[in-house]
Amino acid sequence: MPEKENQPPANSPSNSNPESTKPKRRGPPRSKKLAAGKSKKVEDSSVKQKKPDAVTTDRSVPPKQDIQPPKRTQKQPQRALERKKPHHDQAGSVRDLAKLKGVRPIVALTAYDSVMSRLVCDAGVDFILVGDSVGTTLLGHKTTIPVDMTDMLRHTAAVRRAEPNCLLVADLPFGEASFSFDHLLDSARRLMQQGGADAIKIEGGRDVADDIEKLVATGIPVLGHIGLLPQTVKAIGGYRKFGADRQEAEDLYTDAIALEEAGCFAVVGEMIEESVARELAKQILPPLIGIGSGAGCDGQILVSTDVLGYHVNKPPSFVKTYANLNHVISKALSQYVTEVKSKKFPA
Ligand code: KIV
Repeated sequence: MPEKENQPPANSPSNSNPESTKPKRRGPPRSKKLAAGKSKKVEDSSVKQKKPDAVTTDRSVPPKQDIQPPKRTQKQPQRALERKKPHHDQAGSVRDLAKLKGVRPIVALTAYDSVMSRLVCDAGVDFILVGDSVGTTLLGHKTTIPVDMTDMLRHTAAVRRAEPNCLLVADLPFGEASFSFDHLLDSARRLMQQGGADAIKIEGGRDVADDIEKLVATGIPVLGHIGLLPQTVKAIGGYRKFGADRQEAEDLYTDAIALEEAGCFAVVGEMIEESVARELAKQILPPLIGIGSGAGCDGQILVSTDVLGYHVNKPPSFVKTYANLNHVISKALSQYVTEVKSKKFPA
C-alpha cells in the first residue's frame, strides 16, 4: 500500500520516541547551573504544599501597609526636555517687540534646531533668530555666503517644530535680495510658509529699503541689519567695527532712517562703534538690537553656540561665554569611548 510505504519503519527513532518530532534545539548545550536549577524545581514540586490557614502570619507577600517605598538615591533620573510656561513678558508679536523700546532691554539669541529652539525660548528671549550664521557655527563653512534657501528652510522648520512661545525670525540668505523683487518676495514667502518664520531679516540699509517697504506692505515683517554685514565679507575684506569715522557714522544713520521709513519692526546693529550705536538707538523709532555694539542699544543678540562655548572657531572678542559645552561634551564622549573599550559599558 503506498501510504504504508511512506511510513517510517517500526524501529525508527521517530516511531519509538514521539518527542523526537520536535525541532532539535540548536546552539550550545545548557550550562550545568541551569540544568541543576531545573532538576531542583522538579524536586521541589514533589513536596506537598501546605494549604494556607484562613488567617496566617506566614505570607510571602507582606501586607500593603508594610511595603516601604524604595529609598531615593542621590542620582536623579534623566528627564526629557519638559515644556516650560512662557515668560509673562516675552514678545509674542513684532508689535509687542517694538513696544519694548524704552521699557526694558530686548533679548534675542540664535537657534538652528529643535532642541536649541526650546532651550532658548524657555530661557525667556523675546525672539529667536535662525541666522545664516548656521553656516559658520554648525555647517563648517568659513563664511555665511554658501548658506542657501535649502539650509535656511531646513533649520527654520526645525526651530519652528519645537513650538517656541516667542517670535521666530529667519535670515534671508546671501544673494536672495539681489535678483528681483519677485524673487525676494518668493524667498521671504517660503521662509514663512514652509519654514514657519514669523518675520525675516535682511542685511542692508538704504539699498534694500524700497524692497523692504514692499515686503512690509505685503504683510511680511522685516528685521533690518546694518553695520557689519557678514554676507559682504568678501567685498569689505574681513570683519571689522563700523562707524569709527564721521562718514561711516553718517552712512549708518542714513541707513537706519531708511529702514525705519521702510517699516522695519527692529534693526540689528552689528559691530558698530559704541557711541554711534548709542546715538542711533536714541534717534530711530524701531529698537536697535546690538551685537558687538555696546550697552547703548535697545537690546542684545548673540549667537547661541558662542554663548555656550560650543564651537570650532574662536568666538568674536565681544562675546561673553556663559558655559563651556566643548569641554563638557568632550569629557563625556571620551568617558563613553573609554568605558566601551574597557567593557565597563554596557554593564
Ligand atoms: O546670522 C546671524 O546669526 C546674525 C546675527 C549675528 C545677528 O545675523
